[in-house]
Amino acid sequence: MRTPFISANWKMNKTVDETVLFMKEFIPLVKDTKGVDIVIAPPFTALQTAFSLLKDTNISLSAQNVFYEEKGAYTGEISPSMLTEIGCSYVIIGHSERRQYFNETDEIVNKKIKIAQKYGLAIIMCIGESLAEREAGKTMDILKKQLINGLKHISAENIIIAYEPIWAIGTGKTATTEQAQEAHNFIRGELRSLYGKTAEEIRILYGGSVTPDNIKALMSCQDVDGALVGGASLKADNFAKIVNFKK
Ligand code: 13P
Repeated sequence: MRTPFISANWKMNKTVDETVLFMKEFIPLVKDTKGVDIVIAPPFTALQTAFSLLKDTNISLSAQNVFYEEKGAYTGEISPSMLTEIGCSYVIIGHSERRQYFNETDEIVNKKIKIAQKYGLAIIMCIGESLAEREAGKTMDILKKQLINGLKHISAENIIIAYEPIWAIGTGKTATTEQAQEAHNFIRGELRSLYGKTAEEIRILYGGSVTPDNIKALMSCQDVDGALVGGASLKADNFAKIVNFKK
């Protein structure tokens, strides 16, 4: 049984003050929610404040990125021990925005996963195709390449995959349940080749224009085990509705 997993990815949104306001509204809305892993990924500057508010709640904390070295002369970067020290349990790695704007390659994603795992962080690894790649019929090739290269010499421990078709991110164009299930089923198959039976335990999240209106249908797909939510996670009541999709 894979426990449903719903994570907010705030991207470059919310100051510390805005984080406090959100948490005060959000925590009571989900305090009785059971059987769902709830995670929020604020920007780096709000992580410590967020952790102080989330302590003793049913909500865990994620970072949106990490660097692949342990320490040293890497101006502007954040190491895995800096994240664990302030209460992060998860880290998002390989988001398409990082691949697109910051030239993150599969090799860099692989190095980041390796060090995050070493420090005991659970990893939300993002993969997904562009519109041009989908239209050219290359979706499964891209997903396979990102999985195989990103997970090279990586064990299945603490790995969560987020399938985020780039054309669905921030566009209001959600993948249909058929498109999501097809991709997730393919990903599960690739994970089986890599990890055997353990693949049945790995959660595969869908991301891309998830809202309170479409979460139920997406979660009804056999291989959709959760969601990574951008825009709709910025308002506490909206995100609570997504987390409480069973109600
Ligand atoms: P939206 O939910 O805003 O489409 O963003 C999805 C995403 O990129 C989550 O990581």
